[in-house]
Amino acid sequence: MDYRELRQKFISFWQEQGHALVPSSSLIPQHDASVLLTTAGMQQFKPYFTGTPSPYGASVVSIQKCFRTADIDEIGDDTHLTFFEMLGHFSFGDYFKDKALKLAWQFITSPDYLGIDPKRIYASYYNGDRPNTTADDVSKQILESLPGLTKVVARGAVDNFWGPTGDEGPCGPNVEFYVDDVEIWNEVFNEFYCQVDGALTPLSTPGVDMGGGLERILTAVTPEATSLYDTDAFAPIIEAIKQHAPGVGENERSLRIISDHLRGSVFLLGDHIQPSNKEQGYILRRLLRRAILHLDKLGAVAGFEEIITTIINQYGEFYPELLKEQKMILQLAALERDKFLKTIADGQKELAKILNKVGSVVDGEVAFSLFSTYGLPLDFVKEEAQRLNKSIDLPAYDQAFAKHQEVSRAGVESKFGGHGLASGAVVSEADKQIITRMHTATHLLHAALIKFLGPEVKQGGSDLTTERIRFDFTFSRGMTTEEKQQVEDWVNARIKQNLKVLREEKPIKDALAEGALSFFKEKYPDIVSVYTIYNESTGEVVSKELCGGPHIEHTGEIGAFHITKEQSSSAGVRRIRATIGK
Ligand code: ALA
Repeated sequence: MDYRELRQKFISFWQEQGHALVPSSSLIPQHDASVLLTTAGMQQFKPYFTGTPSPYGASVVSIQKCFRTADIDEIGDDTHLTFFEMLGHFSFGDYFKDKALKLAWQFITSPDYLGIDPKRIYASYYNGDRPNTTADDVSKQILESLPGLTKVVARGAVDNFWGPTGDEGPCGPNVEFYVDDVEIWNEVFNEFYCQVDGALTPLSTPGVDMGGGLERILTAVTPEATSLYDTDAFAPIIEAIKQHAPGVGENERSLRIISDHLRGSVFLLGDHIQPSNKEQGYILRRLLRRAILHLDKLGAVAGFEEIITTIINQYGEFYPELLKEQKMILQLAALERDKFLKTIADGQKELAKILNKVGSVVDGEVAFSLFSTYGLPLDFVKEEAQRLNKSIDLPAYDQAFAKHQEVSRAGVESKFGGHGLASGAVVSEADKQIITRMHTATHLLHAALIKFLGPEVKQGGSDLTTERIRFDFTFSRGMTTEEKQQVEDWVNARIKQNLKVLREEKPIKDALAEGALSFFKEKYPDIVSVYTIYNESTGEVVSKELCGGPHIEHTGEIGAFHITKEQSSSAGVRRIRATIGK
């Protein structure tokens, strides 16, 4: 089955089931001001899940342009993309779990449609681990009745409770179908409205929001394809790059990054986003620049415009805005290329000067300034240094990177500033209490991450609002479901044990000698406060950190700790969002 046939089959299957076809909305969300880009098919339909009558009727089908920055570091692997097309069918108070799951199964397995062998498939449903929700036993039963489906697993909210997009909105338990262990299909049963504070209220008319990555499904039904790039959705783009990059074989990853990033760029430009230093424009700029760096590496920058034209031609039939805006897309992309090549040239000159001056090791902060000022990535600087038998002080580079993040974050933080309470905002006593409990929870989280993921984990900053904990840390890959569960369970066990939180003041060198975790050493005064979390009966220390506080006295005050999301934040930095008991 090819790209065109898959689109057609999906649309006609749901149309035959009485669904109205709705065109993709823009990549700039219309109903989700808190989200930069459209990440799911349901976003344009958000109001229809909560009572606003749908002008299209109560069940619709769409193929939506989506963009997820969370996966940007994963690009180059077999299964992740920034831009992708999401197949979706939706019910706004019309049908629910039974019909949705049975029809989905028919589409996925019937030889008239996807025809995927049930032996390749497993399904997951929600186990009810989020407070004030229950396990989705209805879906479990339906799944167990589907012909040929033999593997059905229960999972926690991290995987099987979806939404909301943005600050608030519909959400609910979901069922996921995996083919060869890759998730291809997500049926969300919107039963709740999630308020800004995380509280769930039941929806008066539960609905269905299904999403499936077109490119992943196409991979599953393309014989021999082992990655998204082995499908005919990508073939013309890869071909166009290869024409300008003879001998590209070894640089497979560059090929993939260029394909993904230029495809995403074309669609962003087509929706009138322009390269800039903020918000959507910054995402676009990053994509274009990274693609250009990889083209440069392959010696294929000359093919830039031709590759873009290939993408426009490939998708223009389905997304006419690309053909309409073809001239503008090419002009803006070329302008950004020229600007970037000039900056890079300046950066290379600067790098040459630096390498000329230094001994054998380049200072980490200096190397980082080449990135922050000229956009020269670390790999590039490393390779140049290596050519001259020199190296980069990598730990110092990482520190400069984390510090830069902290500073840029401080500029955009809402509510309570970088690490709670400091920004002078008016905060109620109740809010202060929540933040104080969260503060202690982050120490437990930090300790758990080091315990389960190893010493590679370094805290990269945290941000607390009354709604959620956000915690960044250095780590080179995404966490597995098991790891997330282990971390969550470990933290909850320490909360249940009601451990003592002790504050002591001592000289910084003693604190460090005791192994207290620190962040930026240079920022600490001679006498520091150290918070130790320990078991009063056994003396076992579970966490020791240099920290300004404030903290609660016993961990039991935190209440249930729950990881809601784990995603990439930037290169080598992961971001966890979590909640605690209200
Ligand atoms: N909205 C759901 C998702 O994006 C289907 O996965």
